[in-house]
Amino acid sequence: MDAIFLDVSDNPLLAEKLCSQLSIETGKLETRRFPDGEIYQRILSDVTDKAVILFADLYQPDPQLFSLLSIGHTLQEMGAAKRILVTPYLPYMRQDIQFNPGESVTSRHFARHLSLAFDGLVTVDPHLHRYHSLDEIYTLNGRSVSAQSAIAAFLRSRNEKMILIGPDEESEQWVSAVARAADLPYQILLKERSGDLDVSVSKPELDAFKSYRPILVDDIISSGRTMLSTLERLSQEGMPHALIIGVHGLFAADAYSLLAEKAEVLTTNSVPHASNGIDLSAVLASELSDMLTD
Ligand code: R5P
Repeated sequence: MDAIFLDVSDNPLLAEKLCSQLSIETGKLETRRFPDGEIYQRILSDVTDKAVILFADLYQPDPQLFSLLSIGHTLQEMGAAKRILVTPYLPYMRQDIQFNPGESVTSRHFARHLSLAFDGLVTVDPHLHRYHSLDEIYTLNGRSVSAQSAIAAFLRSRNEKMILIGPDEESEQWVSAVARAADLPYQILLKERSGDLDVSVSKPELDAFKSYRPILVDDIISSGRTMLSTLERLSQEGMPHALIIGVHGLFAADAYSLLAEKAEVLTTNSVPHASNGIDLSAVLASELSDMLTD
């Protein structure tokens, strides 16, 4: 099946790498705002009977959602054979349960809307905590790839004594896999969150690893408070200068500057940022090639 790549992200470097690794045609889309702020969009390429890969980086989901859904519906009306949405960061996965009566379980609602507008979804390490797979909430063909191998390859290239630290129980899935692949020891802490900016983590047991460089690994860095609290614990233990690795560096407000004062900070190019140092294009391209041949 012929395929076409449409980029609506603000991550042109990753889009360019993906498109060239997939060796497919780039499509054209015209977008503008009417004076009242409503959106006008027009797909200028012929998508009839083609698989369309729509690359849209949803790390700031709310302002983009309607236009994205509308593109999905337009592609269907134009006769696209398959609409595959690629968003390296999949938002709204953390509200996966109603903690208080009346709360929106936004993960389910977000999934329902995307599933109406797209046939497939490719994302990186979605925050699967109480859900075990995307299929529990998405009815489209959802595929998740992992940054683990890219992170492990990066760590193997460093000639240092290192110990991986996962700041909370949810991080164990990523941290243990990276530790196995990079042949490094690891430790998982316990986290308590009493507010958006109020986080504390348990004391690590690092007596046997005092000279090891701590490598903090987590899927999402948002307010940065999880990592800051972990760094505080490590400094109480007198550990060497830490390296923080985040798959998705969202860095809300002053999170990045606060962290960069205390540690080296590295992220994948899931979300475009100065800290990007681990490339996800190969892992995404390989999954997309699979989906195109299905
Ligand atoms: C949640 O459990 C995630 O894995 C991250 O630990 C969390 O999203 C980090 O958030 P923040 O940077 O706001 O502490």
